[in-house]
This record gives sequence, structure tokens and C-alpha cells, in this order.
Amino acid sequence: MNDRECVALLGWALPRLGHRWEGYRRVRRRVCRRIAARLRGLGLADAAAYRRRLEADPGEWAALQACLPVTVTRFCRDREVFRALAAVVLPALAQAALAAGGTALRAWSAGCANGEEPYSLGLLWRFGLQARFPGIRLEILATDIDAQVLQRAGTACYPESSLRELPGEWRQAAFSRQGGRYCLRPGYRAPVRFVRQDLAQEMPQGAFHLILCRNLAFTYFSEPRQRRIASQLAERLAPGGCLVLGSHERLPRGTAGLQPWPGARHCYRKAPGVWQSEQRRREMRPPIGE
Ligand SMILES: C[S@@+](CC[C@H](N)C(=O)[O-])C[C@H]1O[C@@H](n2cnc3c(N)ncnc32)[C@H](O)[C@@H]1O
Repeated sequence: MNDRECVALLGWALPRLGHRWEGYRRVRRRVCRRIAARLRGLGLADAAAYRRRLEADPGEWAALQACLPVTVTRFCRDREVFRALAAVVLPALAQAALAAGGTALRAWSAGCANGEEPYSLGLLWRFGLQARFPGIRLEILATDIDAQVLQRAGTACYPESSLRELPGEWRQAAFSRQGGRYCLRPGYRAPVRFVRQDLAQEMPQGAFHLILCRNLAFTYFSEPRQRRIASQLAERLAPGGCLVLGSHERLPRGTAGLQPWPGARHCYRKAPGVWQSEQRRREMRPPIGE
């Protein structure tokens, strides 16, 4: 299967899976390699034969879907975003939580790949903010559709190239060298919990103060799916909470309830409203039977 054939196949198949071709244009070679391997596994000669197979066998779409995820990432990818989180967003979230009597901030990394993004957030909190906000802990949920990347995330060992944007002191303190790889020490893994989840099908329960949804929905998903996901993410945010996108991504037009966060590029804020911690709400709930 050559590039032209693969591009034609993707142009036909991606919208049927709720994805957009433009998101895959630059990364298509790795996706095409996976599809070519699938063709070989099925003993099919070319892209046209694979298209006929997809038309005849609805079950094959799941196999094609599994060829699509692009898992490229690294620690503190888009440094500017992490700088804005440290300087502007997380302090504001922590102050609001304290003012409402809260003790925890809940963060969600949607499409976490091998764990670099949620672990970066944990390191940022630990080294940059924890001392300023000792009364607050950061809890991080990380989800991904791909079981293999989640397995790697649990192992938390990375090549040096993945750590290139991390400050040297963080690297020294938080990682140990093991056979040429850098492994995150257990204490730094603890705040992150990994769950396998398809963002297009389901979202975690409860409200989040911070959601990172970068280089996934707003790059690869079709416009209608982006609009649906954007409004569901806005619903999942606690009042005053923040949604962070990738540096090449924009919210779909017409997304309600989110405004650019002043001084923090790629960050969007939900209107503050009344910020009440879960804890405070539980305390205020009348006892059962009243
Ligand atoms: C390019 S990586 C982005 C990693 C990280 N968020 C970042 O910006 O560096 C995209 C990740 O999204 C995951 N993914 C793709 N489709 C998904 C879906 N429907 N639900 C959840 N995760 C998905 C992929 O497996 C991959 O790990």
C-alpha cells in the first residue's frame, strides 16, 4: 500500500469513525504502517481490498480504530503551558479551593499516553507549589484508550529524550537510572491513578478543577464530535476550573461556558460561580432521614 492509497483509504474511513483527516495528515506514515501490517495479517493485497473488507465486515472497524492512536508525548510538552499552570492557573485554583474550605484539587489528563503528562503535572505541583499550599493535595486521574501505553505508564520508566524539557533538579530528585532508562521514584507516581477509558464513549465521574485534553480530541476528532466533547468537558469542570488544550488546538466554535484564561495561553476558564468543595458539601448535607 503506497502513501496515495493509504491517504485515500483514510479520507474515506476516518469520518466514518468520527475522526478528521486533517489531524492525521502529518502523522499518517506511522498510522499507514500499522494499517499495512493489518493488511498483511489478513492476507489482503491492497487498500482497495481492505476497503471491501471493511464494507463487508463491521467487526473490522474496531481493528482499524486500533491502528489510529498517535502516542507521541514527552514530559512538560509545551513548556509555556506548564509555566502558565505553575504561575497562574494552579495558584488560582488552590486559593479558590482553600477559600471554600477544600483540601484537594482534582485534575484529569485525558489521553495521557505513557504517563508523561500526568506525571509532569504531579512534579510541577510537588516542586513548584506544594510548599506554598501545604493544605492542598493534588489528585490526578489519567485516562487513555490504549492498554499498552497505560501499562508503560504504570512502569514509569522513560528514555532520556522524553525528559529533555524537565529542569535538571527535578530529574535528579525524582528519577533513578535503571539500565539506560529513567524511572520515576515511587513517591512521585503516587498522586496519579490510571484508568482505561475511551473519551468518545465515557468520561470519569465527578467534577475536576483542571482538565488537560491535549493533542487528542481537538486534533483528531471530527467537528461534531469535538463540539460534543467540548461541552461535556465544560460540564465536567468545577466552577472556576480550567481546561487546557494543545498548543495547535482551538475550542470548537460555539463552545459555551468557557473563556480564555487571561495570561495563560491554551487555558480556558469556566465561570467561577459558587466554589464549594465536595468535603464542605458533605458537611452541609443534612443527616439521612431529615
Ligand atoms: C498524541 S497523545 C497525547 C498525549 C498527551 N496528552 C500530550 O499532549 O502530550 C494522544 C493520546 O490519546 C490517546 N487516545 C486516542 N484516542 C483516544 C480516545 N478515544 N480516548 C482516550 N484516549 C485516546 C492515544 O492512545 C494517545 O495516547
